[in-house]
Amino acid sequence: MQRSRSFLRMVLALASAWTVTACGTQEVTPPAVHIIPQPASITTGQGVFKLKSGMTIAADSSLERVADYLDQTLRNTSALQMERAEAGEAGNINLRLGLDHPSREAYTLTVDADGITIQGATPRGVQMGIATLRQLIPLDSRDSRIPYVTISDAPRFEWRGALLDVSRHFYTPEQVKRFLDLMARYKLNKFHWHLTDDQGWRIEIKQYPLLTERGAWRKLNSQDSTCLEMAAREENPDMLLPQELMRVVDGDTLYGGYYTQQEIRDIVAYAAERGIDVIPELDMPGHLMGAQQGYPWITCTGESSWGKSFSSPLCPGKDSALMFVKNVYSEVFSLFPYRYVHLGADEVEKTNWKQCPDCQARIKKYDLKDENGLQAWFVHDMERHFNANGKQLIGWDEIVEGGLSPTATITWWRDWAPTAVPTATAQGNQVILCPDFLLYLDFIEQPNDLRRIYETEPTTYRADWNLTPEQQRNIWGVQANIWCERIPSERRMQYQALPRLLALSEMGWSRPEVKSWEDFEQRFAVQVDYFDRHGINYRIPTLTGFNDLNVFVDTAIVEVKSLLPNITIRYTTDGTTPTAESAVYQEPLTVTESRTLQFRPFRPDGTAGETQKAEYRKEPLSAARTLPDEEEMETGIRMMYHEFKGRRCEEIADAKVVRRYTLDSITIPSRIHEWLGLIYSGWFEVPTDGVYTFALTSNDGSRLWIDDQLIIDNDGPHSEIRKTGQRALAKGWHEVRVEYFDMNNGGMVSLQWAPPGEALRTMTGFMH
Ligand code: ACM
Ligand code: ZN
Repeated sequence: MQRSRSFLRMVLALASAWTVTACGTQEVTPPAVHIIPQPASITTGQGVFKLKSGMTIAADSSLERVADYLDQTLRNTSALQMERAEAGEAGNINLRLGLDHPSREAYTLTVDADGITIQGATPRGVQMGIATLRQLIPLDSRDSRIPYVTISDAPRFEWRGALLDVSRHFYTPEQVKRFLDLMARYKLNKFHWHLTDDQGWRIEIKQYPLLTERGAWRKLNSQDSTCLEMAAREENPDMLLPQELMRVVDGDTLYGGYYTQQEIRDIVAYAAERGIDVIPELDMPGHLMGAQQGYPWITCTGESSWGKSFSSPLCPGKDSALMFVKNVYSEVFSLFPYRYVHLGADEVEKTNWKQCPDCQARIKKYDLKDENGLQAWFVHDMERHFNANGKQLIGWDEIVEGGLSPTATITWWRDWAPTAVPTATAQGNQVILCPDFLLYLDFIEQPNDLRRIYETEPTTYRADWNLTPEQQRNIWGVQANIWCERIPSERRMQYQALPRLLALSEMGWSRPEVKSWEDFEQRFAVQVDYFDRHGINYRIPTLTGFNDLNVFVDTAIVEVKSLLPNITIRYTTDGTTPTAESAVYQEPLTVTESRTLQFRPFRPDGTAGETQKAEYRKEPLSAARTLPDEEEMETGIRMMYHEFKGRRCEEIADAKVVRRYTLDSITIPSRIHEWLGLIYSGWFEVPTDGVYTFALTSNDGSRLWIDDQLIIDNDGPHSEIRKTGQRALAKGWHEVRVEYFDMNNGGMVSLQWAPPGEALRTMTGFMH
């Protein structure tokens, strides 16, 4: 198999580590330093320190718990049994405070002949240093060499979060702890725990026992069926519901689970040892059906029901309902030491409020404008309750609409409502960025997603924000959200989270100056070894070296590339999905006739990755066409804007035309939003005969036609997906047509092309 040069570099690095340990004698080059997220500064020295069982850890007295965490981690992941140094004596590993640095998470880590010293600005800094040390210790327990190195490091953003939704599907305390340990390894420091929603209430509240007695258990719902159908269709056991979460009550099979308050305390302490704050979210006033299973009187009608889009919310008109949720939160406050607590407050269906006399009386009493005003009043009322208990409120970005108090923070998720960010930051409110198109890890990972996340600069995520330096300082950080409607198991959750969570980690921690995609790819490949050894599931990165559609005139050579060294690629040429018995790809393939190849990677333990299809089409050069009338031609591409509410590109042409544009490239003019269907058409000139590659990226659907032939089919409603295709073109002019639609949920479209053997670039230079 053909591999990239950087891949060879990595194999050599791994191989050298092996040779040395196998014979245990002479020193060769020290193991390479591969840390995610990339530290601010790394200076490597000459030599290695050998860390062995029986060596000692010394810690400043306030770092005892942190030293316990290090000790446990070394036992669990490296089979190293450390001792504690005598009081006042240096250890082989030393944990110290006293680093002078404005960031509380700053640390230095030094490895030299005397051993290892981590010094932090606060205990948090020491914990971040331990996260780095964990990645410096060889994964093979027969090797104990840690390269001499000096690392000086501090985070770019204070908030580096991950949300886990345990309502839609439940994860046991042990599974949550494994997730926290993964977060800690990559310096993610805020665990946003989505504990309640319509589909399940997962936290014990002593004052209201029915919340969990009824709300934590359900008959299988449509989300479960979706998972089970997918398990069958893809023969994927990770999409099955774990049997240990089922129980039979009165003949009904119920799915669920919840955390006792003791388990919550235990998990919070486990997180704290690792430098992670836990932010509970009990979502309200909407998304609250879990509570209504036991306490339906908290709604306007006294019944729990489903509205047009969302479930029936809390009735903020009733004092008893408000008292109920405040009592619930009071218990929650006592379990979570962190100052910040998340109220939710997204996606509220307000129809019931319109008809409810209590809600209308509340609106009247406080002179509120309407039901939106009532929502804002509820958020502010809850915020007063939070503040009175020493807590600060975070809410989803919908809360911007009713006016923010000076101290509220928002998690911005609605890619299609971007103004929340400039608005909130201009008012001095803190904003955490978790845009759904980029950082919702429940979306199936697309081939380009990892790189897209990696290369996103958070403060300019939307060019039209134009945030001032002052506003940029109110970007508190970034967060990935794992919503679990279609994630029934821990293995599936890990598969959705990894590797994207690592790209997020570097987005949050590392400054742009030290980031590099090519370098990250190599460092990620090393982390995979850790996942393999510890039974952590992950998505195998997309194989490269081919397009969705590949065109050739005589023969094509197919050279498949994989980022990971340890996988086996199997393939078929007969249209079937590759299995563990299919042919192994070992060297470039020669294709002489049109056919579809399918490739699939397999991990060492036999786990299969995603199948990738590559169509190979043999065709002659498409002859150049004659421009209609050069005199009449204009530069640029023509675009017709249709008022369109469909879901397929072929229907756009039948929709009413609103306006006509001339553009330089395939883009959406900034003034048009909402439901739209756009058809671009024009001519472009090809400089030489050859096979040209095109890449069409869109959210939602799009299609590319060249000389009346469909080249890329990226149709249907979807988040940002890039597809690639080719066409053999003779020198001269050719016709291009792109169809694109967006379903009023924030969209983009772009077309790139590459002449034979060159890199992709934005396509311009059109005539029409
Ligand atoms: C959300 O995804 N509804 C916050
Ligand atoms: Zn009401």
